[in-house]
Amino acid sequence: MTTKGSRDFVPALGFHWLTRWYDFTIRVTMPEREFRRRLIDLVHPRSGERVLEFGYGTGRNLQVLLSRFPSASVTGLDIDPRVRSIAVAGLDRCGMSVPLDLYDGGRFPYPDASFNTVFSSLVFHQLMPVEKHHALREIYRVLKPGGRLVTGDWGKPSGSRMRLAFYLVQLLDGFKTTGPNVRGAMPASMEMVGFQEVSQVDAIDTRVGTYCYYTARKRQGR
Ligand SMILES: C[S@@+](CC[C@H](N)C(=O)[O-])C[C@H]1O[C@@H](n2cnc3c(N)ncnc32)[C@H](O)[C@@H]1O
Repeated sequence: MTTKGSRDFVPALGFHWLTRWYDFTIRVTMPEREFRRRLIDLVHPRSGERVLEFGYGTGRNLQVLLSRFPSASVTGLDIDPRVRSIAVAGLDRCGMSVPLDLYDGGRFPYPDASFNTVFSSLVFHQLMPVEKHHALREIYRVLKPGGRLVTGDWGKPSGSRMRLAFYLVQLLDGFKTTGPNVRGAMPASMEMVGFQEVSQVDAIDTRVGTYCYYTARKRQGR
């Protein structure tokens, strides 16, 4: 864990000095094109919708999203200024421009009901249980009524080989943060803050664990 302002957070690959190796590590440990494609398939912004990526990291999901939906209205929110500079450079190389916001891990810097869809990938397993709850409450708050949450992250392993492989991620990112993910607790955490229609809709095995896709919806009305 690293201190940023008054908050601690886990950097993209567990330690700051590893952040510049993040994209390479994802490429060699995960079927990157496929897992990001399936994520963006689920996000699939409709015309006029506002989308937020929570924990944009090096910006790879944003690149995939904008290459498929060039007119999408998308914003990113992360906690780490170092990863932001990598994301800015990568999007710039692709000729893409996205507002990439930073915050301190507290209240999201957006009014209530700002977005139609919030999505995240590989972020919740880096948060302590109390932070997961806080982030889900903030996501719920900034979603419009009926808005969607799409999350891809480590979930219940598909078998003992995936469980064993996942110890590598746990060593890097911590056991307290990753524990609820690997026990399959993400859907219950979403329901706890009020999300409805929560379900695991897909999963993909990687070299380091089973990556699961969850969708959920904010209640219509207040
Ligand atoms: C493993 S990276 C995932 C990056 C990207 N979403 C992807 O799919 O490759 C996790 C990201 O979550 C960010 N993060 C960690 N704690 C956070 C928090 N409390 N709020 C927002 N972002 C956070 C890290 O800075 C990092 O960029």
